[in-house]
Amino acid sequence: MQKIIAIYPGTFDPPTFGHIDVIKRAAKIYNKVILAVTNGTGKETWFDIKEREEMLKDSVRKLRNVEVDNFDGLLVNYARKKKASVIVRGLRALSDFEYEFQMALTNRNIDSKIETVFLMTHENYSYISSSLVKEIALLKGDLSRFVPKNIAIAIKGKIKNENKA
Ligand code: COA
Repeated sequence: MQKIIAIYPGTFDPPTFGHIDVIKRAAKIYNKVILAVTNGTGKETWFDIKEREEMLKDSVRKLRNVEVDNFDGLLVNYARKKKASVIVRGLRALSDFEYEFQMALTNRNIDSKIETVFLMTHENYSYISSSLVKEIALLKGDLSRFVPKNIAIAIKGKIKNENKA
């Protein structure tokens, strides 16, 4: 039987429990899931691409069929290169829909053989975003409900270094 490779792309600045929830769901469905970290959104990030990859690797170490990689340029080209037939996206709330709909249709237009599949994020995480996590960290709030311990430590370290500079 053909093995199905899925790509879960994103900025992951930083990854949160919401992302990890989607990753676990995808890992149960597909033979291989590639977490593809990118700078392609033009967002200014706190963490460079290697740091984001490392945080993700640490967080998914126990999931044997999950890999972490990075890409530049068009997602669809990257998916082709990796022989992936599925792009996974997490849906948190209705507000995600319009943007995701536009992106899925654009990607399908570029390559109709690659399907975008939406997985519903667990309701406990449906309101989290990476920006909110960073805001809570800046305001010295408790991060334990939003990100794994290793990532909370990395975020605090980043703030400490910024304050020193
Ligand atoms: N749980 C928690 N937060 C989530 C989440 C989940 N399940 N899913 C998304 N988010 C948050 C992210 O943390 C991020 O928060 P932020 O805006 O505060 O940083 C926000 O939702 C956006 O999600 P993300 O998955 O990171 O999307 P993105 O906009 O960074 O990624 C790409 C979009 C990378 C997939 C897209 O821009 C892309 O494919 N780029 C490559 C270039 C390309 O091919 N362009 C044409 C595409 S049509």
